[in-house]
Amino acid sequence: MRKISKIGVLTSGGDAPGMNPCIRAVVRTALYNGLEVVGIRQGYKGLIDNDMYEMDRRSVSNILNLGGTILKTARCLPFKTDEGMEQAYQHAKARGIDALVVIGGDGTFTGALRFSRKYPDIAVMGVPGTIDNDLCGSTYTLGFDTATNTVIQAIDKIRDTADAHDRLFFIEVMGRDSGAIALRAGISCGAEAILLPERATAIDDLIANLKEGHMNKKSSSIVIVAEGDKNGGVYGVAKAVQQEVKNYDIKVTILGHLQRGGAPSSFDRILGSRLGFAAVNALIAGESQKMVGLQANHILMTDLEAALNQHEFKLEEDLLQMMDILSI
Ligand code: F6P
Repeated sequence: MRKISKIGVLTSGGDAPGMNPCIRAVVRTALYNGLEVVGIRQGYKGLIDNDMYEMDRRSVSNILNLGGTILKTARCLPFKTDEGMEQAYQHAKARGIDALVVIGGDGTFTGALRFSRKYPDIAVMGVPGTIDNDLCGSTYTLGFDTATNTVIQAIDKIRDTADAHDRLFFIEVMGRDSGAIALRAGISCGAEAILLPERATAIDDLIANLKEGHMNKKSSSIVIVAEGDKNGGVYGVAKAVQQEVKNYDIKVTILGHLQRGGAPSSFDRILGSRLGFAAVNALIAGESQKMVGLQANHILMTDLEAALNQHEFKLEEDLLQMMDILSI
């Protein structure tokens, strides 16, 4: 069985609340088991640039409540090249790293899988960390719960002013390829319509529904548009609607990166701790090329390749059905 002695830990791609509790769990679980830990700054960039440091128990003190990531993060194009990967490997070997915990989303796992196939002597364990909640093998990813709550708080506030002015608001939320935040926030806030990348919305139907709501004396309306919706973006949708219903007072709000920040929720603190703990234990047990994830409240492993299988990933069918029914 593969025996490891030094774990490198990194966060990569978009930051997500819950990454810090996860780093803390990785460091303290590893030290408890007599392993050494190296913190790698800015994701794969830190491996390529040799920007790493030895971590002890105190390196992760007082970080449970912090959003972002103490290791910093980056989207690293050079890691996609053979030269970049070779440099990363050489630096890891020179440090004595024989296992990696990579915390991130699909881009992070794609890099991890390629790296560990090319250099199988370094074990790799993935932890799902992205506000997009779009990985197979984990019902929830780190940061999704916090981000959704942040969006809900923002939309509740917008609803107050929308209602006061009888306005129609189009609100863009994050999710280039994923409607997970849009769907949950939309149902939680009673949005009149939710536009998702996973499902085509006919603008004519949207307009008809909004007109009907107006006739039924709805005083305000909220339409949530996920970033990756295919109808020309939030401004495109708002413009198309405004052309048809000239008497509506329409406003557009893009929530943007505020969705990625803030103290992690209780859920994300516990999830980060569970996943970090499980990732180290899996590496100690000799596993590699896997992702630890939450399934039916158990921490289970999935092959990294399967975690990336977007065709298998689906939004919950009952949520999709109720989004058209509950807001009428
Ligand atoms: O992957 C998380 C995410 O927040 C997506 O929802 C969004 O499309 C993207 O990152 C934005 O990335 P960046 O911060 O690099 O602009």
